[in-house]
Amino acid sequence: MLEKIKALQEEVEKAVASTKEEVEELRLKFISKKGSISQLFDDFKNVSPEQKKEVGQAINTLKNFALEKINSLKEAFENADSNNTGTDLSMPGEPLKLGTRHPLSLVKNEIIGIFGRLGFTVAEGPEIEDDWHVFSALNFPPEHPARDMQDTFFIEKNPDVLLRTHTSSVQIRVMERTQPPIRMIFPGRVFRNEAISARSHCIFHQIEGLYVDENVSFADLKQTLLQFAKELFGEGTQIRLRPSYFPFTEPSAEMDVSCSICGGKGCNVCKYSGWLEILGCGMVDPNVLEACNIDSKKYTGFAFGMGIERITMLRYGIKDIRHFFENDVRFLKQFESAM
Ligand code: DAH
Repeated sequence: MLEKIKALQEEVEKAVASTKEEVEELRLKFISKKGSISQLFDDFKNVSPEQKKEVGQAINTLKNFALEKINSLKEAFENADSNNTGTDLSMPGEPLKLGTRHPLSLVKNEIIGIFGRLGFTVAEGPEIEDDWHVFSALNFPPEHPARDMQDTFFIEKNPDVLLRTHTSSVQIRVMERTQPPIRMIFPGRVFRNEAISARSHCIFHQIEGLYVDENVSFADLKQTLLQFAKELFGEGTQIRLRPSYFPFTEPSAEMDVSCSICGGKGCNVCKYSGWLEILGCGMVDPNVLEACNIDSKKYTGFAFGMGIERITMLRYGIKDIRHFFENDVRFLKQFESAM
């Protein structure tokens, strides 16, 4: 009898099942009413009284062992089943969401690239400035209404601490510490106390350019800006310079490019004029050079300044400047692949 129990024990130990049905077969074989372990209990009647204790214990141990084994096999298949219903492990994973660069950064980088190929390097200056760098050194006379014209945000008065209203201030910072030749552009954020609308914002971005050396002429200015316009808006682009006024340049001009949307024929973007105004420029006023201790008899220069928002809006047909600052990913996502 004990040998029979041992043989059954080994059989149970070796038993394997690869489906739920096979587990059920094992249960029937070993522990159902007609199973081989149950039959041991029938045979138990014939065991001699001296052996009853030992045999009885052995049968019980075997029965418990078989029950445990069959239950754990059952559980394993039930868990595998619930896994199967939810997850297909062969499915590809969720893609990582990648960000895109801001349209203003894309256009800024493109402009930096164009001027880089023309030999201009990049510098930056502080956003919090003083009166000297934003106005006085740029030839704005004291009490000149231009300070009001540009709607300055003042942080402190007397001495004035203010948020720069244009990146022209970086011209001064650079010329104060560098003697010509200087060929640089200055990208950065500027601030004006203006009502926010579809066309204007109190924070926006500019790129300023400065070229100072011996014999720099208005022809150099024109050629540089023509090359820039062609690279940014396409080979067929034309430019025109209209006389204008800025305190820091003499003569001064505003530059238009032929409308890249209608090719100059006239459309609602260029207000049927065929031209789009994109920047201010001129020959650096000798007073500005002298304010920075640069000899205006020896050196001349040109400067220009443009708004990145405006150029980006023209480039992509964006109708409202506020989109740039709302950070709606549905808006921001559209641009990287368009470059
Ligand atoms: N600073 C001017 C503005 O914010 C733009 C500008 C005009 C810059 C003419 C220049 C320039 O360097 O020569 O409106």
